[in-house]
Amino acid sequence: MSVNVMPVKVLFVCLGNICRSPTAHGIFETMVAEAGLQERIIVDSAGTGDWHIGKAPDERASAAALSRNHDLSHLRARQVRPEDFLEFDYLLAMDNQNLWDLQALSLPEFNGHLGLFLDFGRSDIKEVPDPYAGGKEDFEFVLDLVEEAASGLLSHLRDRLS
Ligand code: 4NP
Repeated sequence: MSVNVMPVKVLFVCLGNICRSPTAHGIFETMVAEAGLQERIIVDSAGTGDWHIGKAPDERASAAALSRNHDLSHLRARQVRPEDFLEFDYLLAMDNQNLWDLQALSLPEFNGHLGLFLDFGRSDIKEVPDPYAGGKEDFEFVLDLVEEAASGLLSHLRDRLS
């Protein structure tokens, strides 16, 4: 008898959806595919703001990611929508402001996990700093934090799926 298992759906959220959350989206999507779990873990990202809807990731984020072999070129920004609380099991915020904004948008029916992405990492740092007004080293730091937490998130989801 075949069992139809619903996939786990993960949404990464930042402010603009052009720097931090697409970086997490691209990196985690690749990790999921490399683990052969692409049918079981669905990945997306969104921003709480609307300024960059439809845009590709910031060139600096894309270049930094590509230097570590992560391709973000297929991603386009979108804004968080109420239905996300019905569709996704994990809404993972990059910083506390993103988390507070999501808490304000949440629906009573939501029974998933809403929290900080870096809670899945081992670092004492719990927020991914906004690199938008920063330099190359800030985008590198985003990658360091995202790679580490993505690995923790994958372990967590493997346990949940097994
Ligand atoms: P993100 O970075 O939230 O990591 O995508 C930002 C991108 C754009 C702006 C702020 C942060 N903005 O003010 O336009």
